[in-house]
Amino acid sequence: MGIPVVLDCDPGHDDAIAILLAAGDPALDLLGVTTVAANQTLEKVTLNARRVCTAAGITVPIAAGSAKPLLRPLRIADDIHGESGLDGPVFGPPTVPVVDEHAVELLHRLLPATVIATGALTNVALLLTRYPEDAERITEIVLMGGSTGRGNITPYAEANIHVDPEAAAIVFGSGVPVTMVGLNVTHQALVTPDVVARLEALGPLGRTCAELMVFFGETYRAMFGFAAPPLHDPVAVARVIDPTLVECVDAHVQVELTGTHTLGATVVDLDGYRGLAPNAKVAVGLDVDRFWDRVVGAIARLG
Ligand code: BDR
Ligand code: CA
Repeated sequence: MGIPVVLDCDPGHDDAIAILLAAGDPALDLLGVTTVAANQTLEKVTLNARRVCTAAGITVPIAAGSAKPLLRPLRIADDIHGESGLDGPVFGPPTVPVVDEHAVELLHRLLPATVIATGALTNVALLLTRYPEDAERITEIVLMGGSTGRGNITPYAEANIHVDPEAAAIVFGSGVPVTMVGLNVTHQALVTPDVVARLEALGPLGRTCAELMVFFGETYRAMFGFAAPPLHDPVAVARVIDPTLVECVDAHVQVELTGTHTLGATVVDLDGYRGLAPNAKVAVGLDVDRFWDRVVGAIARLG
């Protein structure tokens, strides 16, 4: 059996591929998918998780979680992910159900496991607050979020952390082993035309993925001027699949909660200026070719 993981996500184009990578790679045993409002409303991201699982024949339990951040109003990313949160392909009616249980309860029930978080950290923070003893039962939290440098929603904040910074602060302060996979590395996972062609060649599921990537590429070009879009979330999954795919260093990370212009920035003390003990592993490098082989291989296996 593979490494037991639960994926907490907000699909979302890159979250969709993260689900496929987590379900399709033999190194992992995907126990469940939980959803959190961020890229779109909770209702839409949960429907999207069902759509993706239905398209790929994934039958793990899916549970809906938090509809809004702990303290702040929800800010969605429809400019990147579209009206549905997963614009591009036409999906058939979803047949995979949502379980009658809050995401926090499903997460609690599925532990021990590694928690991979690719949306706002609201559900994970609520889990740690409601069930403090679960800190011992989470093998690791591997999150896509933050950056060692600049942001993507404000000059210094990355979207997943900025949407719910208080939740992120709880996670980084929890004492659970945390790995942060931020923009400084995910911006190397560019969906080039070559990657799109490899997906298209796989069959119906691969073609659906290619259509997702084409839409994602258009919004990234329009919003950020990227020639090819960065596939953030699967990089966090890849770190769990094979740690040698994503190089990490130990560092202290603090989430900016009071900055006038820097709310949600991750202050990553790579040089140890502050003299604080590291509280996270921070991604600093990606083996790009082997990453894409793993993503394409997982989708091929499912399709
Ligand atoms: C993160 O924000 C979302 O739009 C993506 O799904 C990813 O998780 C990148 O900043
Ligand atoms: Ca996401």
